[in-house]
Amino acid sequence: MSKPVVVVTRKLPAAIETRTMELFDARLNADDRPLSAERIVALCDGADVLVPTVTDAIDEALIGALPDSVALIANFGVGVNHIDLKAAAARGLVITNTPGVLTDDTADLTIALLLAVPRRLVEGERLARAGKWDGWSPTFMMGHRVTGKRLGIVGMGRIGQAVARRARGFGISIHYHNRRRVHPEVEAELEATWWENLDQMLAHMDLISVNCPQTPETHHLLNAQRLDRVQPHAVIVNTARGGIIDEAALADRLAAGRIAGAGLDVYEAEPAIDPRLLSLDNVVLSPHLGSATHEGRIAMGEKVIINIRTFTDGHAPPDRVLVGVDV
Ligand code: DGY
Repeated sequence: MSKPVVVVTRKLPAAIETRTMELFDARLNADDRPLSAERIVALCDGADVLVPTVTDAIDEALIGALPDSVALIANFGVGVNHIDLKAAAARGLVITNTPGVLTDDTADLTIALLLAVPRRLVEGERLARAGKWDGWSPTFMMGHRVTGKRLGIVGMGRIGQAVARRARGFGISIHYHNRRRVHPEVEAELEATWWENLDQMLAHMDLISVNCPQTPETHHLLNAQRLDRVQPHAVIVNTARGGIIDEAALADRLAAGRIAGAGLDVYEAEPAIDPRLLSLDNVVLSPHLGSATHEGRIAMGEKVIINIRTFTDGHAPPDRVLVGVDV
């Protein structure tokens, strides 16, 4: 029997590429440059499966141009905001993602940013490295303590809950906004307070972490009006998707000192970053590293392979993304 033809748009960890080549007739991207829509469509000629990543815009036009042979889009990543799910469903395409295996890594990076911003870690590192440190003094580079502060988590799914678990270890109290209240057992374990009204929660938090998926409903969820509700001493961290926050409105408020600081791993027009953010000392910027561990990326690749195997064997893939359902 011939092997399924699988198109992979970006370079994956070596072990995953090796296994992909063993199991499938794989078309890989050796030089790892993002492919144009035309190139993706051309590579899919006669293919069964497309494996894109967050850097590919799998929009309505691209989906419409895909050859009929393609039946599965097995995304390498949990977020699927770069895929037009409705257009894919209309064409009868099955979509899968890689949930669960990057939860801990993303939560760890969230905590790193939640500590780095109030403790001025990166600002201090830059100063020390530049040879500008004159020595210890009682008032030198004071930041703010996180212990005893209130953290508001926007989106209490797997990653939000993992952030909450870690934050509790720092003596931070947990608050959250989610469309649906989480299970009472989870709330009790985390001693978490549910805020039905996001505006009200934002107005009462010292630390805010964005952990919801980007969907049409959450695009600019933290818009200018909502950012104006945030307390001036608060710090905002985003390791979810850039488009959930109005980046220009956030940059305005950070520059004006209206919001104390931000830790950002994701941006509205990646890899571009609002130039004002680059010059602000009260902002820590990381280049979309949430799931960037060897272990996480291999586990994501293994999930992609399992999804393809089960689907091409005629079974329901374990990580099917259903349109209109939370991811
Ligand atoms: C994810 O899995 O969604 C990561 O952000 C990379 O796309």
